[in-house]
Amino acid sequence: MLMKRNPIIVALDVDSAAEARALVEQLGGSVNFYKVGMELYASAGMEFVRELLGMGKDVFLDMKFYDIPETVKRAVAQAARVGVSFLTVHGSGAVMRAAVEGKAGSSLKLLAVTVLTSFDRQDLADLGYPCGVSELVELRVRKAMEAKIDGIVASPLEAAAIRSIMGPDAILVTPGVRSPGKAAGDQKRIATPAQALRDGADYLVMGRQITRAADPAAEAARVIEEIAAS
Ligand code: C5P
Repeated sequence: MLMKRNPIIVALDVDSAAEARALVEQLGGSVNFYKVGMELYASAGMEFVRELLGMGKDVFLDMKFYDIPETVKRAVAQAARVGVSFLTVHGSGAVMRAAVEGKAGSSLKLLAVTVLTSFDRQDLADLGYPCGVSELVELRVRKAMEAKIDGIVASPLEAAAIRSIMGPDAILVTPGVRSPGKAAGDQKRIATPAQALRDGADYLVMGRQITRAADPAAEAARVIEEIAAS
């Protein structure tokens, strides 16, 4: 498989800037893209995001914004000013349209979260949605493209269906990947990195397989080789 770029985004799911910094230093040049989610954001905030950017790293800020349009628009504008590369918002129409307005004039790419992968049909029924998960995912991918959202974050098991709806240009990011034989942890719906890329993913979010390896940099390099060899 021809690799356009390093597709790995490492999830910094740790509770302090010190721990995140240590991981980034250990990973060195093997990883250039990091995901900062709610936990690290609540602990170390934009100050740590700026530190990562200052080190020349790309940042995926996984905030899954969901609020009234004016609030979403203004918050997205702030994230765009700081210089993060990717930002998540929920895939509901008004939220996505407000987010697109908020990033105007910047190079920020907005990713829509369609349906949380922890949701099943019963969770949707509880919300009053009379449909299945994949139906709602597909509807929301279409709405995201109509709203001019740049990409989608989704389970690798949905990657092929989503890629066929959104076409070749939109960005597809998949968490929930594990190399063959690696511990899945609490992830239930997983695919291998190579399979996710074959099914149309552009980037893979990888957490514990890399961050909890005895040698994280060696593990990241090994995954890249595994992808190249497949
Ligand atoms: O450690 P692991 O590789 O399972 O971490 C995956 C990362 O991707 C975590 O930051 C998790 O929050 C995120 N994620 C996920 N599944 C989703 C959406 C996000 O695992 N559907």
